[in-house]
Amino acid sequence: MSSESRHIYPDADALAKGAALDLMRLAQRSVAENGIFTLALAGGSTPRKLYGVLASEPAFRDFPWSKTHLFFGDERHVPPSHIDSNYLMVSSTLLASGLVPAANVHRIRAELPDANQAAVDYDVELHTFFTSPQRFNHCPRFDVILLGMGADGHTASLFPGTKGLEETERWVIANRVEKFKSSRITFTFPVLNAARTVCLLVAGADKADMLYEVLVANRNSTAYPIQRVQPLDGTKVWLLDRAAAARLPKSL
Ligand code: 6PG
Repeated sequence: MSSESRHIYPDADALAKGAALDLMRLAQRSVAENGIFTLALAGGSTPRKLYGVLASEPAFRDFPWSKTHLFFGDERHVPPSHIDSNYLMVSSTLLASGLVPAANVHRIRAELPDANQAAVDYDVELHTFFTSPQRFNHCPRFDVILLGMGADGHTASLFPGTKGLEETERWVIANRVEKFKSSRITFTFPVLNAARTVCLLVAGADKADMLYEVLVANRNSTAYPIQRVQPLDGTKVWLLDRAAAARLPKSL
């Protein structure tokens, strides 16, 4: 059984705070039920504020970090010191707090010269960590996967027109993205759709047209990668700021 919900916040700061509260609630629920919380982080710029709030605000001191395992939904094919690295963004925000045990952080080794090797390594790490009780539909069942959305409707590093959109077996792939003349290491749709909860964090006026397209104008299509995020037995939660939601009808 799956469900979908939308929450619109006045601005990016309120969105970050609201998302942090949701995450803490989901983390405490998972730890109470299974003794552990598995969270896959999104990259890009939008989640930076959220990670900062989780790391610094007193309200999140009770976040069960010692029981939380952090993974990365995708990574650019660059070393962790590179400005484009999602790991660098996370380590300079969320991990800067020192609250998350280093052993609980599962980084993608994107510094490897061969992006395919980095993808295979991470696929093996997921297979080792998510033993059968923690699998659903032959895939790892994350408690929460955080995702963003590009203005072109991509999510994680599953871009329109790329081969990675059609992957049905592997959990992690190196997806060639011609416009970047590079590959990205990314979770595939089978993994995204096996999650208990997928949180889509979307902020800013530059996303308003695509949100209107995927939630209104082209609602029942799967033309855009973000529309293929459909948890098989889970919840899809859109967390939006007013600027991104500007074109959505109030009745939606
Ligand atoms: C990445 C992300 C990607 C991101 C979108 C939105 O590595 O870039 O995983 O999917 O979420 O591109 O990016 P912004 O938040 O920067 O708009």
